[in-house]
Amino acid sequence: TRVAVIFGGVSVEHEVSVISALQAIQNMNKDKYDIIPLYISKERVWYTGEELLDIENYKNVTSLLQKAQKVVLTRDDEGRVVVQKEPRPRFGKSTLHEVDVAFPIIHGTFGEDGVLQGYLELLNLPYVGCDVLSSSTGMDKVIMKNVYRDSGLPILDYLWFYSTQWTDDPMVWTEKVKETLDFPVIVKPANLGSSVGISKAENSEELEEAVDLASKFATKIVVEKMVQNMTEVNCSVVGDYEHVEASVCEQVLGSDEFLSYEDKYAGSGSKDSGASKGMEATNRIIPAEIGDDKTKEVQELAKKSFQLLGCSGVSRIDFMIDKDTDNVYINEINTIPGSLSFYLWEPAGKPYKQLLDELIQLALK
Ligand code: DAL
Ligand code: MG
Repeated sequence: TRVAVIFGGVSVEHEVSVISALQAIQNMNKDKYDIIPLYISKERVWYTGEELLDIENYKNVTSLLQKAQKVVLTRDDEGRVVVQKEPRPRFGKSTLHEVDVAFPIIHGTFGEDGVLQGYLELLNLPYVGCDVLSSSTGMDKVIMKNVYRDSGLPILDYLWFYSTQWTDDPMVWTEKVKETLDFPVIVKPANLGSSVGISKAENSEELEEAVDLASKFATKIVVEKMVQNMTEVNCSVVGDYEHVEASVCEQVLGSDEFLSYEDKYAGSGSKDSGASKGMEATNRIIPAEIGDDKTKEVQELAKKSFQLLGCSGVSRIDFMIDKDTDNVYINEINTIPGSLSFYLWEPAGKPYKQLLDELIQLALK
């Protein structure tokens, strides 16, 4: 089976994607799968080639891309999905590989939000993970929350507005935030990953700064009630609408009230931090120390939130547990989670190789 692993991309999580993808490629069963790396540069040009498999080469991307082969993923005259050298007027096109299944490992915009999935649908190429609708629903925090709330799943109170609505009348929105949520609140761009653009606001001035920051990344802004005393717990799910399985839970220990991009990936500056191993550098406890009952509750909610959106493949659902009330809230779903959450499956008895195998088989089902 020829698997095209698609990674890189234009989102703010480009570097994380490279780490997640190379790590997955390393762990795929080479006896069973021929792997074709397909790297999308930040300039949206597609490349293939052996050079793309060595993480060291990404220290100098310009030089890497001079060596790699520019390609397009398309259909040839016989209707096969192929990786083709970019057609040059004088030389015509030449096919490098046929492709049986695509494996998108791109976090965030254009990779995790249904856009890439739409292109693969158009090619009629099977692919790993969520389809267009579940991807885009999972990526938009407003739509995602509405779907969960409508089905009675627990989410935190929130409101949202377009950044232009805010600019038109910041006072009105500030009043609404005070009335319906009260400070402190968390302000987020509606459609980003890795905590980019997220900040906390304790008063009107901070709210303004937080909205300004979030507006740099998105036109839709979400303001959420902040749980002051909480435990952050994540759980991964594998499967599809017919069958799902939940992993062990992880407890995330951030340095602040919520995790910044730096917390997640930059670690504490150590060269041997988690980021270099492809894992988020966050301190974590696996399994989470929340007791059996809470663990079960989180796992059940994780499975529900995955199936409710019609997800497929592997997702990681992030929760908050209010320490004062013991209430569990769904924070968000990540339909292409960092490192594909393999570290939550290994302690559950599923080695990474097996997880990848199951994901590819689900796509071909
Ligand atoms: N968006 C990152 C990769 C995550 O949540 O895992
Ligand atoms: Mg996320």
